[in-house]
Amino acid sequence: TKRQQMIRKITREFSEEYIAPVAEESDQTSQLDPKVFEMMKKMKYFGTCIPKEYGGAGLQDDTISFCIATEEIGRIDASWSITTGVHCSVCAYPIYIFGTDDQKDRFLVDLATGEKLGAFALTEANAGSDAGGVQLTAVKDGDEYILNGSKIFATNGGIAETLLVVTTTGQKGRRKELTIFIVDTNTPGYSVGIREDKLGVRASNTSELVFQDVRVPEENILGRLGQGFRLSMQILDYGRILMAAQCVGLGQACLEASIKYANERVQFGQKIGRFQGIQWKIADMATAVESSRLLTYKAAYKCDIGEDYGHAGAMAKLVASEASMQAAHDAVQIHGGYGLMKAYDVERYFRDAKMAEIYEGTSEIQRYVIANHLLRKGG
Ligand code: CAA
Repeated sequence: TKRQQMIRKITREFSEEYIAPVAEESDQTSQLDPKVFEMMKKMKYFGTCIPKEYGGAGLQDDTISFCIATEEIGRIDASWSITTGVHCSVCAYPIYIFGTDDQKDRFLVDLATGEKLGAFALTEANAGSDAGGVQLTAVKDGDEYILNGSKIFATNGGIAETLLVVTTTGQKGRRKELTIFIVDTNTPGYSVGIREDKLGVRASNTSELVFQDVRVPEENILGRLGQGFRLSMQILDYGRILMAAQCVGLGQACLEASIKYANERVQFGQKIGRFQGIQWKIADMATAVESSRLLTYKAAYKCDIGEDYGHAGAMAKLVASEASMQAAHDAVQIHGGYGLMKAYDVERYFRDAKMAEIYEGTSEIQRYVIANHLLRKGG
């Protein structure tokens, strides 16, 4: 639509003008640039999928636009697209969809305007791919719950002020009963543990979160008591569409860098783009990125028209993350020795791309989700 084209144009211009000049430095210092942060607030990138009445950009029914914005940010710096993508898709949006009016009033405005950063705290040392294995406990005490345990690998974790924390509140047959709480990180007993030193998306904050007798009021339960596993799966279904969009942007960046280099670099008396070995890499890269884009928009579209989109999002995330990894691999190869050097963006793209095959569900988990859907529902 015209609006979607406009969002692409505005976000591309913004990302090129403000994020690109500091992307390399952010990667090297492992810090998000505070000036970019402020500008992103003004541009409403922290509330893309939240209604205007809560201070967001009002694109809650246009996930394709949300994907396009995420894609354009990811084309320049994956650390930023994961920061805003996670904040919006697996923290702010679930509060908008599953939260009570009171929870929206208390938490959503600050998230949508970027005054507070959000994170989704699911993963633990013993609960990675096995999301149902959460050990962090929430024990009822009067009209409060007391949280004890720790989370790891939480994107935005160390700098977030609003968390969705997946806890165990009991046992249901063979399974643990899980419940999600909205936690304000200023609550006594909460602290940030280790900040991870990662291979890629280095400026994005990934941290351990520690809960020692953290008291959370009952009214901060997201959804209902015991609904936490199902809600987590639904939250991840949506988040994966945005992860896919981020990979489309990164794959596109690899493609553009490769085309530029192949049109400039001369070896054996001609531009290397004239060699078939390079041409085929570029052709495959372009085809894979475009396929990823279409799968991503399809999953977003299914979400917007109210269809079941879990397996479509998993397909998009699987294909887009593997395509961007392959694109980054080929982009470095096309750049030869220069591709290994920090002076060239493709070196960063290569490190950033690997992350996407792992977070918000590994490629193996996406295949499980897709196969499960097909086998249970018959395709
Ligand atoms: N929506 C609604 N319900 C769902 C669902 C979905 N998407 N997926 C499963 N369920 C339901 C099932 O229907 C089933 O219900 P019944 O018991 O009534 O039949 C129940 O939940 C259990 O489902 P499964 O048997 O499929 O559950 P499982 O334990 O075998 O595993 C899994 C499911 C897909 C492997 C899940 O554990 C999973 O997604 N794992 C990956 C977790 C993940 O992505 N982690 C990364 C977190 S992101 C992060 O950490 C970084 C960050 O900061 C954002």
